[in-house]
Amino acid sequence: PNLKKVIKGIPKAELHLHIEGSFEPELMFQIAKRNNIILDYDSIDSLKKAYQFNNLQEFLDIYYTGAKVLLYEQDFYDLTWAYLNKVHDQNVVHVEVFFDPQTHTDRGVDFAVVINGIYKALEKAKQELNISYKLIMSYLRHLSEEEAFKTLESSLPYKDWIDGVGLDSSEIGNPPSKFVQVFKASAKHGYKLVAHAGEEGPVDYIWEALDLLKVIRIDHGNRCLDDEKLVQRLVKEKIPLTLCPLSNVALKVISKMEEHPVAKMLEKGIIATIHSDDPAYFGGYMNANFYETAKALNLNKRQIMQLAINAFEASWLSSNVKEKHILEVK
Ligand code: ADE
Ligand code: ZN
Repeated sequence: PNLKKVIKGIPKAELHLHIEGSFEPELMFQIAKRNNIILDYDSIDSLKKAYQFNNLQEFLDIYYTGAKVLLYEQDFYDLTWAYLNKVHDQNVVHVEVFFDPQTHTDRGVDFAVVINGIYKALEKAKQELNISYKLIMSYLRHLSEEEAFKTLESSLPYKDWIDGVGLDSSEIGNPPSKFVQVFKASAKHGYKLVAHAGEEGPVDYIWEALDLLKVIRIDHGNRCLDDEKLVQRLVKEKIPLTLCPLSNVALKVISKMEEHPVAKMLEKGIIATIHSDDPAYFGGYMNANFYETAKALNLNKRQIMQLAINAFEASWLSSNVKEKHILEVK
């Protein structure tokens, strides 16, 4: 009964959040209207009814369509600010946010427009909401490595604002091995490296992300339990997995929450963490992800706290700030 209260009371870090995936239908309609864009749906309800997915691709098709109403700096600012206010209410104190520049630059929206809007909202949240942040630029893996290189190039004037690069979008058929050179180049520019791997794709993609891309964190990684050797590697090298339980259910990566691997991962000593991925599409932000997971897997308070601690551990905060947050969890 007080599970929700316990979860809300714990200070949390969000490490796996696509800002475009926080685009709530209400705000989408509002921005579409002021930009004179007609959506394919005639009401917020009919749009919400379309949010039923059988796999990652069905979701991505709708997610990229929704993002098309974002045209101006103010739009990116409003999107980001709305997200930050929402999670502030949920006692999220640190965020590491993904954005997908190519989703916008491919439509003729400048990189500068996208990042300025997002950055200004993040800075305001730091000042006014006391939320610390990191920003992660994701390459779209269904596009070519050459396209990713162009995005890397566009990011360089803003590299002081960007902490890392990631890899997202359609996983199957687009293995990490496709992006070896651009990840290498990104690291040379000082970006930290992460990649989505083993969400729908096989365990090989997790190995590739580690061995070929040299990532320091895996986004999702659900499939790692298929491979005991990989599990040992993740534990030994302290490679965190940023899991997204409501996303996994919504995209049918698992058939029901009771089957989520996070409890087993904790048992094995993996630095597993819980996040929200695309909360506007998958039915919940951080607290809902914690709550639904804890309820379905019968997690005790110690396990819930471990998940929260792991997220600070896995974050890119400095070690003294990490320690401070971890003490606040306990
Ligand atoms: N882009 C936004 N959400 C994603 C997900 N869950 N997997 C891959 N790409 C994404
Ligand atoms: Zn994701």
